[in-house]
Amino acid sequence: MATNDLTEIIEADRAHVWHHLLQHKSLETTDPRIIVEGRGMRVWDQTGKEHLDAVSGGVWTVNVGYGRESIADAIRDQLVKMNYFANSAGSVPGARFAERLMEKMPGMTRVYYSNSGSEANEKVFKMVRQIAERHHGGRKHKILYRERDYHGTTITALSAAGQPQRAAQYGPFTPGFVEVPHCLEYRSQFGQVDNYGEMAADAVEEVILREGPDTIGAICLEPVTAGGGVIVPPAGYWEKIQDICTKYDILIHIDEVVCGVGRTGEWFGYQHFGVKPDFVTMAKGVASGYAAISCTVTTEAVFDMFKDDASDPLGYFRDISTFGGCASGPVAALENMRIIEDEGLLANTTAMGDRLIGNLNALAEKHEVIGDVRGKGLFAGAELVVDRKTREPADELKVQAVVGNCMAQGVIIGMTNRSLPGLNNTLCLAPALIAAPDDVDTITGAIDNALTSVFG
Ligand SMILES: Cc1ncc(COP(=O)(O)O)c(C=O)c1O
Repeated sequence: MATNDLTEIIEADRAHVWHHLLQHKSLETTDPRIIVEGRGMRVWDQTGKEHLDAVSGGVWTVNVGYGRESIADAIRDQLVKMNYFANSAGSVPGARFAERLMEKMPGMTRVYYSNSGSEANEKVFKMVRQIAERHHGGRKHKILYRERDYHGTTITALSAAGQPQRAAQYGPFTPGFVEVPHCLEYRSQFGQVDNYGEMAADAVEEVILREGPDTIGAICLEPVTAGGGVIVPPAGYWEKIQDICTKYDILIHIDEVVCGVGRTGEWFGYQHFGVKPDFVTMAKGVASGYAAISCTVTTEAVFDMFKDDASDPLGYFRDISTFGGCASGPVAALENMRIIEDEGLLANTTAMGDRLIGNLNALAEKHEVIGDVRGKGLFAGAELVVDRKTREPADELKVQAVVGNCMAQGVIIGMTNRSLPGLNNTLCLAPALIAAPDDVDTITGAIDNALTSVFG
């Protein structure tokens, strides 16, 4: 790509744009990074520098890669015909995508459209509260969430944040959200045990019994915890969670905002574990960032609870998301899904994910600083520690230096960021589902160099 002179853009950005997750003091001495163009797995910045993107647009979103003209064309064709109408009415792509999506989610039947992961989760929280109000005499209104999980940026989504640094300074929070312990075996709360998964689920049951099962309506869990450190629940965990929820009549809400639509090698992360959810939310990869769309998916049994009494003027789901009616979202999502199917990207994700984990495990043999490697499909993490025996976390500044070193080499990787105090020490990788063997090797090669340079 030819270098563009973007001086004016940089100055306009510096003067007026408030960037996400950025301490702006740094921009007094350096230029903001402007990403100008993308193709496949690569992006180019304002200096013309090429980067291999190992985090799919920074936050695990651009699953089918950059520069997909067929998605752009589908959006354009839809917009000139019909761009928007409130979703109290239907749309052609909204109906088509709902039908295609439900084919991938046996047991689920209904889709509620909105436009961000946070919003999709808020819909579930509202549904659970309304179910409690209408069907449980106001009881069963509490919602469980797990330590280290994240569900979004709004005040109520932050009320369900198992990542204290995300929530810090933004309280007071919405009442009725209760934390359950994490399920990361590497940081076991029970010492070394051979049934960690079951014990982590038992710890959830203890919270339920402490709170009173008749006060709890739902549990909200990531299938694989993303920003909290790439945590794949251990064997036995999900089975027991399912049993506990059945026993106490607690609805299961799986937050697939990151894992949904292919990231882990199945259409949905929960499908690895045989869980039967009542709610599934998704956003980022649904249209790979070509349009803003999120979905709150429910079973017919949940849906029925909102139409059982047509004479009650307040008895249905009285919610609207203005931009949930944008037709660009579902039309982009349809084409995104077609690409994943036609290009065999689920199988590629599994194969390339195995290669990525294999490469990281090989690096762990060389670099003592890698304490744990974990992941599923093309979502992988490497937790860095000072000492393998004590598992003392590596200094966050050094982990940042590894990310910075990769960036200097032209490879964009991520890390747990302002998530858990003292535990922002996991490198995070989520390349697009189109990754080729060379891409995977280039990513881990850059990490190899960076670890040598930062840790010796
Ligand atoms: C698991 C999970 N849920 C929800 C969200 C919130 O999504 P959004 O930023 O689209 O509101 C995120 C964002 O990173 C996430 O990782």
